Amino acid sequence: MENRYAVILAAGKGTRMKSKLYKVLHSVCGKPMVQHVFDEASKLNLNKIVTIVGHGAEDVQAQLGDKSEYAIQEEQLGTAHAVIQAKDFLEDKEGTTVVICGDTPLITAETMEALLTHHEEMHAKATILTAGAEDPTGYGRIVRNQEGHVEKIVEHKDASEEERKITEINTGTYCFDNKALFETLSKVSNDNVQGEYYLPDVIEILKNGGEIVSAYQTSSFEETIGINDRVALSQAEAWMKKRINTAHMRNGVTIIDPENTYISADAVIGRDTILYPGTILSGNASIGEDCEIGPNSEIKDSSVGDRTVIRQSVVHSSSVGNEVKIGPFAHIRPKSAISDEVKIGNFVEIKKTSMGAGSKASHLSYIGDAEIGADVNLGCGSITVNYDGKNKFLTKVEDGAFIGCNSNLVAPVTVGKGAYVAAGSTITENVPGNGLSIARARQVNKENYVERLSMNKNS
Ligand code: UD1
Ligand code: CA
Repeated sequence: MENRYAVILAAGKGTRMKSKLYKVLHSVCGKPMVQHVFDEASKLNLNKIVTIVGHGAEDVQAQLGDKSEYAIQEEQLGTAHAVIQAKDFLEDKEGTTVVICGDTPLITAETMEALLTHHEEMHAKATILTAGAEDPTGYGRIVRNQEGHVEKIVEHKDASEEERKITEINTGTYCFDNKALFETLSKVSNDNVQGEYYLPDVIEILKNGGEIVSAYQTSSFEETIGINDRVALSQAEAWMKKRINTAHMRNGVTIIDPENTYISADAVIGRDTILYPGTILSGNASIGEDCEIGPNSEIKDSSVGDRTVIRQSVVHSSSVGNEVKIGPFAHIRPKSAISDEVKIGNFVEIKKTSMGAGSKASHLSYIGDAEIGADVNLGCGSITVNYDGKNKFLTKVEDGAFIGCNSNLVAPVTVGKGAYVAAGSTITENVPGNGLSIARARQVNKENYVERLSMNKNS
């Protein structure tokens, strides 16, 4: 097969976003735009991807990592000038180069593949991916001659009244014969309204030089939306959300209310899992089969096993096993490991804690910096007193122990295997296995207290 390369344009600041964050790093469904573009391009069997970076170069490089090559565009003089920066990597190569804008996050590998196929079939020197836009404002327009062949692309700002009526737009994705591209880029001028070197001008130059230029129109404008401001960003978010949710439903996940379910681009969900309204799966969330999540639950960077139920709760950077019940109103904070068949009930906060299989914290507890064994019962109101104002300490509760209601376990402390802690205890010393520890004041009953009280009042 012919050599294939890609250039991703990601050097612009994105002034219209009015943001501290560089445009291509804004996220759509939890993943930066440029990462979406890069991930799709990566599916294309390319010899090399060169990303053009400028504004926020270090941040973009940190985001994409070492799977891309990088060329720096010191000054943003336009999209043609941006592509020229890749010349040290590509100039002398035989093959086809796909150019993609880093701000078109919905573009798919399938569409780019179809563009490449069309380009090869037409033996073209350049092929533009175009789309029909209901409102083409802001986009470059595809100008065709009477036979319907592409003549040139005219930018919105440079377009005449007549040209602005054209609804076929330049999506910003193209295929070029690599050598022809680099030969032509040097001929592009900046004689236009914006004083920039426009990549789309390559089309007209090639055409005037007698070369074949072609256009491949996708039926999906949605896929090609370019994000220049926050209004477009929210539109992209809505379309991407729909795409992601639809794919999960097609794979066997029930989503009760797709409009109000937010699933990150990289989340994994098993079959027959049900997502109730207000569920947010963010970052690297992976959910097993036959789970019930939500309503109103957020699971971030966490893994959840099979047949687990999580209601009205938050789980962050933790692992949760099979057949676990969490919530309503529980908070699992980072670095927690919840084993199979654990129950974590309402108003329970768990932090940096492992809980062994079958253990329970059913009501109103704070369990932090703890190692809880298997089949432990943490009674209502159990608290690990893990912090002395400076340092955090470990609480261990061994297998089968029973912690009575409203107990404080003052760390560092260990409750041995099978031991009991009486309700209302404040445990400051280790409890031996199979023992019972009572650490509370004894009850004193004052007989006839009320009578004596009234006698005192009357005297
Ligand atoms: C561009 C196209 C327009 C097309 C639209 C599709 C040009 C001149 N216009 O317009 O025909 O309809 O995309 O979305 O190409 N960039 C650089 N260096 C630069 C300038 C831009 O790397 O010097 C990058 C930006 O980071 C961005 C991409 O190129 O990712 C496109 O630039 P942008 O300024 O958004 O172009 P548009 O005005 O949207
Ligand atoms: Ca753009």
